[in-house]
Amino acid sequence: MSDKHYLLEQAYQTNNLSKDEIINLLGNLTISDREVLYGYALKTKQFYYGDKVYLRGLIEFSNICRQDCLYCGIRASNVKVERYRLTPGEILGCCDKGYELGYRTFVLQSGEDLWYTEEVLIALLQEIKKRYPEVAITLSIGERSAETYQNLFDSGADRFLMRHETASKELYETLHPTMRFEDRRACLSTLKEIGYQVGAGFMVGLPGQTLADLAEDLRYLKELRPDMIGIGPFIPHSETPLGTEKGGTLEDTLVMVALARLLVPESLIPATTALGTLHSQGRELALKAGANVVMPIITPTSVRKKYALYENKICGDDKAEDCRYCIERRIHSAGFEVDLGRGDPSLYSDKIF
Ligand code: 5AD
Repeated sequence: MSDKHYLLEQAYQTNNLSKDEIINLLGNLTISDREVLYGYALKTKQFYYGDKVYLRGLIEFSNICRQDCLYCGIRASNVKVERYRLTPGEILGCCDKGYELGYRTFVLQSGEDLWYTEEVLIALLQEIKKRYPEVAITLSIGERSAETYQNLFDSGADRFLMRHETASKELYETLHPTMRFEDRRACLSTLKEIGYQVGAGFMVGLPGQTLADLAEDLRYLKELRPDMIGIGPFIPHSETPLGTEKGGTLEDTLVMVALARLLVPESLIPATTALGTLHSQGRELALKAGANVVMPIITPTSVRKKYALYENKICGDDKAEDCRYCIERRIHSAGFEVDLGRGDPSLYSDKIF
């Protein structure tokens, strides 16, 4: 057995790898190493979740953003974006449609848009929960105060997605001129303390990102133990300062998805839209490398293309029902089953830790 195969077997058995071991693994991975890794990640996922893949209906409700992240197509400085905001009534309409299509988790995502005040969001959460008491609501709206997070939780928000983006302080600060590394981490800890199911995660292939940075991303996740982990390739957007940089690759992203599965085995890991954009089979490959969630878009077709964090995003002309059934076909073709339940974290997790 090669050194790398041995290390991967250890990681499979212990769900642990040191930073140095990860760095060592990531250097010159062969195709055969990758296959061994994906196999262990798949077995780990199957132990916790079987062949089930959970669906979350994604509503991208505003592309207005006060932040100016260098990589992001809807950054405040990009004057070429046509901005939109869905009204609470329109968002509720998306939930109705999503419910009809069978979704029992709604992910409400937007730029950091303070038009949606705490009061507006509370009223919206309460109305969604009144109509559909059994659904889980996930917020992905960026940084707010601890008090606001608490009040939103008390009004019915169950989960919160906030990628840490990169665990390197230096890289984080270069990429986020309007934000602070420590604030991001504090938000994630606060959300966890309040009781949200929390999703962290990062991009792969950012300009200047080293193997040591990626190893640090995985170690941070191992420490934080988030319920959800979103990992996607960086895809350059021409109207941003990083428009001419190289993006992340399919293979590198799949490797990080698989390692995240080994290190945080009970987590919920989406096969991201960014992976589907990079490669026609990107999401299916991610499901075979340890991912177990897909987030089909239910944003109204009329505004979809305006929510372009990166270019050539898939499904821009589709309707909610197109995405619902396209995803189902893809999940089946990859050999997995759709689970339309809320998809809470594995019941095994408490037994293991
Ligand atoms: N390429 C890939 N992912 C991106 N995101 C933002 N911009 C890009 C891009 N150009 C990701 C960030 C953010 C999530 C919603 O989308 O990680 O947290």
